[in-house]
Amino acid sequence: MKKIALTGIKPTGEPHIGNYLGAIQPALELAKTHDALYFIADYHALTSVKDKTLLKEQIYSLAATWLAAGLDPEKVTFYRQSDIPEVFELMWILSCMAPKGLLNRAHAYKAAIDVNTEDGTDPDSGIDCGLYYYPILMAADILLFNCHVVPVGQDQKQHLEITRDIAQSFNQTFGNVLTLPEPLIQDAVKTIPGIDGRKMSKSYKNEIPLYTTSKKLKKRINQIVTDSKDVNESKNPDKCNLFAIFSQFASADAIEKTRHQYLAGGLGYGELKSALFELVDAFLKEGRTRYFDLMADKKQIDIILAQGAEKARSIAKPLLENVRKAIGMQ
Ligand code: ADP
Ligand code: TRP
Repeated sequence: MKKIALTGIKPTGEPHIGNYLGAIQPALELAKTHDALYFIADYHALTSVKDKTLLKEQIYSLAATWLAAGLDPEKVTFYRQSDIPEVFELMWILSCMAPKGLLNRAHAYKAAIDVNTEDGTDPDSGIDCGLYYYPILMAADILLFNCHVVPVGQDQKQHLEITRDIAQSFNQTFGNVLTLPEPLIQDAVKTIPGIDGRKMSKSYKNEIPLYTTSKKLKKRINQIVTDSKDVNESKNPDKCNLFAIFSQFASADAIEKTRHQYLAGGLGYGELKSALFELVDAFLKEGRTRYFDLMADKKQIDIILAQGAEKARSIAKPLLENVRKAIGMQ
C-alpha cells in the first residue's frame, strides 16, 4: 500500500514562483510515489482575506495553478477545504483535546500578540478567533485523512508538531484512532528569493508571479534589484539575488558559465535579466496556456473540485465515524 501524502495551500494572493518551486513542484513529484490529497485551504485564507470577490478569484487562480502545473485530478484527490464539512466537525472534537496553552504558543498568534504589546495596545486587539484556532483547523485537515506525510515549508513545522500533540492526546484518551503524520520539509528546496533579495512572499510584495503574461513577467524580472556595478566590473554571484533566481532555472553548465562571467566582469545585469526572462518564459509557456484556458472557463475548475470533494469525503466520512464512535457519539 502506498503511503498517503496531504498538503494544502492558502488562496491568499496570486501564486508566485516561490510557491511553485518550493511547494507545488515538489508535491507533484511526491504524488508519483504516494496517494496524494492536495487541497485549497480556503477557510484558512478567511483569517486574512475578508473581500469575497477577491477570495473567490484567488481560489480559482490557485486551483488553475495546480492544474496548469500538471496536477492530474484522476490521480490526485484535489479539493477545496470548504467543501468538506467533516473537517469542521473534527475540528471541534480536536479543539476539546487541545490545551489552550498549546495555541497560546503558536507562532502566528504570538507574533500578533507581540506586535500589540509593543504598540502598547490590548494584547488581543484585532486578533480574531480564526487566527487563534488556525492550528486546530490545520490539524483537522490532516488527521481527517490518516495521512503519513505532509510536505510543507519550514514555517509550518510548528503546526505539524501541534497536530501530532493533539492526535497523541486524542489517542491516549480514546484509543488509537488517529495516525500521527510526519512533516516533510524539503531541505533541498531552498527558499527562493524575491526581487528584493528577501524570501519571495506575497507579504513582502516582492514576488515574481507564476502564470502571468510574457509582458508582465518581463517587466517584473527587470525590477529585480541589483547593485549598480557596470558591465565590466567583477561581480559576486553569491551575493546577488538575480544570480540566485537565475540558478533556479538555468542548467548546471549555464550556471557555471555565468558564475565565471560574474567574477571576470563583462556580463551586465541587463543582459542576465534578458536571459533569465527567456528561460522563465519558456519554462512557464505550456502551463500558462492551460492556466489561462481554465481561468476563462471556471466551470471546468468547479467540476474538477466537486469530483475531488466527493472522493475526499468518501475517505473522510468513515474516519470521522470512527472518531465519533471512539468518543461515544455513535
Ligand atoms: P507566501 O509567503 O507568499 O504567503 P505561502 O505562505 O502561502 O506563501 O506559501 C505557500 C507554499 O509555498 C508553502 O508551502 C511555502 O513553503 C511555499 N513557499 C512560499 N514562498 C516560498 C519561497 N520564497 N521559496 C520556497 N517556497 C516558498
Ligand atoms: N497553514 C498552511 C500554510 O500557511 C496551509 C495549510 C492549511 C496546510 N492546512 C494544511 C498545509 C494542512 C498542510 C496541511 O502554508
